Amino acid sequence: MSKRKAPAGSPNQGITDLLTELANYERNVNRAIHKYNAYRKAASVIARYPSEIRSGAEAKKLDGVGAKIAEKIDEFLSTGKLRKLEKIRQDDTSASINLLTRVTGIGPAAARKFVEEGIKTLEDLRKNEHKLTHHQRIGLKYFEDFEKRIPREEMLQMQEIVLKEVKNLDPKYIATVCGSFRRGAESSGDMDVLLTHPTFTSEASKQSKLLHRVVEQLEKVHFVTDVLSKGDTKFMGVCQLPNKEDGTAYPHRRIDIRFIPKDQYYCGVLYFTGSDIFNKNMRTHALEMGFTINEYTIRPLGVTGVAGEALPVECEKDIFDYIQWKYREPKDRSE
Ligand code: TTP
Ligand code: MG
Repeated sequence: MSKRKAPAGSPNQGITDLLTELANYERNVNRAIHKYNAYRKAASVIARYPSEIRSGAEAKKLDGVGAKIAEKIDEFLSTGKLRKLEKIRQDDTSASINLLTRVTGIGPAAARKFVEEGIKTLEDLRKNEHKLTHHQRIGLKYFEDFEKRIPREEMLQMQEIVLKEVKNLDPKYIATVCGSFRRGAESSGDMDVLLTHPTFTSEASKQSKLLHRVVEQLEKVHFVTDVLSKGDTKFMGVCQLPNKEDGTAYPHRRIDIRFIPKDQYYCGVLYFTGSDIFNKNMRTHALEMGFTINEYTIRPLGVTGVAGEALPVECEKDIFDYIQWKYREPKDRSE
């Protein structure tokens, strides 16, 4: 998954940037995940609002924008800034924690610890490389690259390489590039690949070789350049397209590959296609219909609220059918 940075371009970007900054502050500095979610939800609904918002009251009509956020929007619209954010930006500890969490591998807890030790800038991190995990070191090495969003055109080229190499290894593999790319986004924060193979089911024993073979092949063709972590079912790493015709290099990009049992594949594809807000809404509806959905399975809930056996799923639509929801194409899954 990618570190949160919203794509540019809505008529209310001033407001959504502000809400995103508040969201990140709540998550990274206060570790207040509910507030983080509330700001993110408001930012997301406003980002899709087609016209310029002129007052907090106008915003408040949208689902997910409450009185407090409406007030902040009014302050921002009339003064061009927000005192709360000005204060946060001036607070040295908050600013440092926020900066350090932008490095992949550094979460809110690690960031706070570094800051308490006096490690507050990227330069401080570079001077203290011995205190970083391998993952964090790579995050620091490619800090600037990882902050850049990936244009869809490059995602398409990356997808082509991954699907081609996987298919050449064994045509029985199934691979799907999920995340914002699958929803049709013009740019993405990272590449989320899901992989399965008919011989790998939740009943079968571990088949980690099938994932490692794919990773090794992608390294061999110099697409995967670095490994952040490599487990039996999840690879996290770095990739790069071959140089452009004129010899210039593309940025390094974050790539995750998840190897999922075939019987759980489509619950995984649904989950990792997102958006996270769509997922939350779909799960809420599922619960109302007496089902529980997670990234692995959909299960019926008994009268006592205990989840039963996983239901068979052959495609994403099966999951929509169980909960009697009209199928929604990935491009219509922003919320
Ligand atoms: P991300 O890669 O974080 O999100 P994204 O691909 O939608 O956006 P970006 O372009 O910034 O990479 O995660 C992939 C999917 O995983 C996301 O679309 C939905 C799911 N997900 C959740 O449902 N909840 C979560 O908290 C996260 C982090 C991801
Ligand atoms: Mg993504």
